[in-house]
Amino acid sequence: MRTLVAYFSQTGKTKLVAEAIYESIEGERELKELGQVESLEGYDLSFIGFPIIAFGPAKEGKEFLEQKAAGRKVALFITHAAPEDMAGIEAWLDKCRAAAASADLVGFFDCQGELSEAIAAALLKSDDPALRSFGERRPETVGQPDETRLQRARDFAREVMARVEG
Ligand SMILES: Cc1cc2nc3c(=O)[nH]c(=O)nc-3n(C[C@H](O)[C@H](O)[C@H](O)COP(=O)(O)O)c2cc1C
Repeated sequence: MRTLVAYFSQTGKTKLVAEAIYESIEGERELKELGQVESLEGYDLSFIGFPIIAFGPAKEGKEFLEQKAAGRKVALFITHAAPEDMAGIEAWLDKCRAAAASADLVGFFDCQGELSEAIAAALLKSDDPALRSFGERRPETVGQPDETRLQRARDFAREVMARVEG
């Protein structure tokens, strides 16, 4: 079983989840930035992660999935500044699943990730009121993903591995 964990991460939060997933995987494994991944050929399973940017998948993640994931076994992991139970978040996550429509999607995980100070400051200057309101919510996100969420990510990885290995 050869497993890839690949992530796109601007401020390191999705990377923390990627590392937690990577730690939990047994067998042959690789951890890479998404931009370094030419192809998913040769991997039995690929965990692919990226953040939500402006109410949908980060462009880098969406394009990667659309161009390189067809027919491959993929498990997605997503971070977002919104709390996991916020109304409306499912629509953003559905857009991530839709980007992986041509893949064999074998798992899906999402959790809150801190909104960095620099990004919050930039969002506060946005013309979009919804993005401005995100900027205001930075304090609630500080310290995420916390240990509880990273543990959930480890459990998710083990559960996907067990299912795929059958
Ligand atoms: C330009 C921009 C737009 C964002 N839009 C959203 C959003 O619509 N919803 C949300 O919950 N988080 C949003 N975020 C927050 C990130 O998804 C969150 O902080 C994530 O954990 C960052 O991951 P990273 O450190 O791996 O880049 C946005 C971040 C940026 C930079």
